[in-house]
Amino acid sequence: MSILHVLAIDGPVASGKGTVARAVASALGFHLLDSGAIYRAFALSCLQKKTNVSEINSLSIEAKALSLEFSGELVIVNGADATNEIRTEAVGMLASQLSAIPEVRTGLLERQRAFARAPGLVADGRDMGTVVFPGAQLKVFLTATAEVRGVRRFNQLAKSANATTPPLAQVVAQIRQRDDQDKSRPIAPLQPANDAIVIDNALQSKHETTAAVLALWALRGR
Ligand code: C5P
Repeated sequence: MSILHVLAIDGPVASGKGTVARAVASALGFHLLDSGAIYRAFALSCLQKKTNVSEINSLSIEAKALSLEFSGELVIVNGADATNEIRTEAVGMLASQLSAIPEVRTGLLERQRAFARAPGLVADGRDMGTVVFPGAQLKVFLTATAEVRGVRRFNQLAKSANATTPPLAQVVAQIRQRDDQDKSRPIAPLQPANDAIVIDNALQSKHETTAAVLALWALRGR
């Protein structure tokens, strides 16, 4: 399968993929898919509706029926603004657990593919290059050690006014836990596609990583 104009950016939590994907999409004039926001929105919706998540068979239907809209920067879940709420650690952790269930992944698959529209799409997630857009023209996998990503997340939390910052060691431990969950699941585990270009961005600014991805895009197919 060959899908034109899809640039897949995968990587673990706090690898910078969200910021880089947004900047790359804006530079290229492409649409943006933040697939993690879809998994987070589903997790939040399950919490709000008190969905019995052990009833695996109904999860695919629940996932397909998820009431979710992206309106500019806003994420609307079940008709209400959930932009900040989906970013909490509790919602992220539940999203990570639910995302290991094949019925949930299947239920959310077409919703993600529907983002591929002209003139192109930058898709950010865990399995953009392996499962959702295997025909993407360029696949990039961003990474850095758990410690480096922990420091980034710690600094983000410290800067945000309404969050109590947990100790750095706890932030690193949470990142490791989420990495383990995302890597060890049997379906669509977090891993680079065979044809992905892996960038360790520990020593790069987000601006430098963005420039590197744009340079790779300019070189694609040559
Ligand atoms: O990227 P973000 O941290 O927002 O994603 C939240 C969770 O959703 C991840 O920990 C991961 O388990 C899941 N996810 C996924 N596949 C994607 C994007 C996110 O399994 N394509």
